Amino acid sequence: MHPDLERILFDEQTILEKVGQLGAQLSADYYDKNPLFICILKGAALFMADLVKRVTVPMEMDFMAISSYGASTQSSGAVRILNDLGKPIEGRDVIIVEDIVDTGLTLAYLRDTLLRRQAASVRIVALFDKPGGRKVEIAPDYYGFTVPNEFIVGYGLDYAERYRNLPFVGVLKSDIYATGNSDKPEQA
Ligand code: PRP
Ligand code: MN
Ligand code: MG
Repeated sequence: MHPDLERILFDEQTILEKVGQLGAQLSADYYDKNPLFICILKGAALFMADLVKRVTVPMEMDFMAISSYGASTQSSGAVRILNDLGKPIEGRDVIIVEDIVDTGLTLAYLRDTLLRRQAASVRIVALFDKPGGRKVEIAPDYYGFTVPNEFIVGYGLDYAERYRNLPFVGVLKSDIYATGNSDKPEQA
């Protein structure tokens, strides 16, 4: 436990077990595709590292840094590429690796961007899906857990860059982000 958390949602063992299942599923679905796993930094860093260890077929990795909100808990709606991929993805079967889908703005932007670059296919794997936060209609092709419409941190997910290193995931106490006028913050 951590003093800034209200409660734990998923402990380390539960997360790793689910990540193992996702790795096995992706290995089966992509066994002959040499897929390119694209980790969306920074939030997906821990998930990516554990996921690829469970992939048992040929694959490659790349990284893209995206930011939608900066240090705020409310979405600005603007998505920025902070660091782009190392190589063109034309003709590649791409798997976007995300920690969480909340409003969906990040993934909608990313999927469009990667398809415009002529990827052969683009699918999304997200460890957490928060359907209650959606502003645009998009769903991950693979996901680990559905989460309630609360602000969660840990295992890569931050609040103002903190808590990414926690090996478990929990709900942040509301007094940590309270600003007086926002009730349900978005993931940031
Ligand atoms: C968070 C999270 C997802 C995105 C989900 O990233 O890691 O990438 O927001 O939110 P959305 O569905 O509402 O777009 P953030 O922009 O905070 O950057 P980070 O990964 O570096 O924390
Ligand atoms: Mn992110
Ligand atoms: Mg963030």
